[in-house]
Amino acid sequence: MRDHGSRIDELAYDRRRLRQYLVGEARADGVERRTLLKLLAAAGGAAAVGVGAAAPATAAGPGIVKPLPPELFTVRGTNAESKAASWQGTGLHTPVDRFFVRNHTSTPLLDPGSWRLKVWGSGLRHGRESEFGLDELRRLPAVTTEALVECAGNGRSHFTTQQGEAVSGTAWGLGAIGSGRWRGVRLADVLRKAGLSRNAVDVQPRGLDAEYLTADGANLGRVRRPLPVAKALHDVLLAYELNGEPLPPDHGYPVRVLVPSWVGIASVKWVGDIEVSDIPLYSPWNTDFYRLYGAAYPPEGSAPLSRQTVKSAFELAAGAEFTVGRTHTLTGRSWSGAGGIASVEVSTDGGSSWRRARIQDPARRDNWVRWSVRWRPESTGDTQVLARATDTRGNTQPDRTVHNTQGYLFNAVVRHPVRVVG
Ligand code: MTE
Repeated sequence: MRDHGSRIDELAYDRRRLRQYLVGEARADGVERRTLLKLLAAAGGAAAVGVGAAAPATAAGPGIVKPLPPELFTVRGTNAESKAASWQGTGLHTPVDRFFVRNHTSTPLLDPGSWRLKVWGSGLRHGRESEFGLDELRRLPAVTTEALVECAGNGRSHFTTQQGEAVSGTAWGLGAIGSGRWRGVRLADVLRKAGLSRNAVDVQPRGLDAEYLTADGANLGRVRRPLPVAKALHDVLLAYELNGEPLPPDHGYPVRVLVPSWVGIASVKWVGDIEVSDIPLYSPWNTDFYRLYGAAYPPEGSAPLSRQTVKSAFELAAGAEFTVGRTHTLTGRSWSGAGGIASVEVSTDGGSSWRRARIQDPARRDNWVRWSVRWRPESTGDTQVLARATDTRGNTQPDRTVHNTQGYLFNAVVRHPVRVVG
């Protein structure tokens, strides 16, 4: 097997993909030609054309199976945001009853008996094609991975509420995240069993949920997004359990892809097939969506998003009330896609002074830590509490996030409003 390590560098990898497209060596089914031209303008000097990002469709109601009680969730279109206040006292992993759901369309109800995973494409030896049933996957060595799933747009609403900037997409607070104990098989094991060739470059899982229509009626096909083969072989799971139970319908039953530390879109739910390709692949989910566009970025956008950024959330409702002169314990969670969390500071006076929070969990890659701080407010009125985390790579949450039009990767310190009462 050739060393695929260098391909983890998404930017370099993306440039190479684009060059390959220019010489007719990449496929881009379902990607608008103008999108490719725009990307190619940067890589190959073709004329740039206007950005034509399709807006996600809004649905009448969420096609989500599990109950969405208002104390646990805020429903946003086809999605359900977990309320951070509901994480209090729940342990490191997010119970399924409050795990956020991000659906492009709606949850399909799949029959595990007839479900098959097809692995196919030019990146398999002799163009071979394999199928795996659920029982076959379960007979392969099982591994358990603790990891977060977080939407790239988590925190998006704060671009507007805190920075006064317009962004498109679901107006998430900080609850488009959940931590799970995922059990399944290594994607690497399945790919090798299917006959992975040394020439494979991209691996593209595709969901069995309905095809996705944009607001202006364009059919983008089923949700799919290519992964560089290096990441696919590194730590990606085909998960069939979450927190010790079969995967719930809303989270990908019977099998989902789990891509630790990467933006949630990589973790394709209800996976039905995986294309393994010896040429680069594009989909709308790594061209129009899930890149950074805007004044601070080149016209073709950033490289496709991969790792998540560093963030913190209080386990509090907005406007939570505290009694003056009493000692309270503020709790929260911090996380980063680049490593574990090394320290968390909290301000209870709107950002004037800061003190260290007590962190409850060891710093772990791909997971969050719980923390707490004591607070005895001395005067009544409205104020803000803030939390600022630093990860083990030295990344700290900034005061502002550089704007991008689709509001991805908001990592700035969030000013959480609270009220002190008599
Ligand atoms: N996979 C399919 N097939 N369809 C989807 O709509 N949404 C993606 C990803 N996988 C999606 C999908 C996005 S954007 C995110 S953030 C995560 O699933 C959300 O996972 P969850 O709903 O289990 O929390």
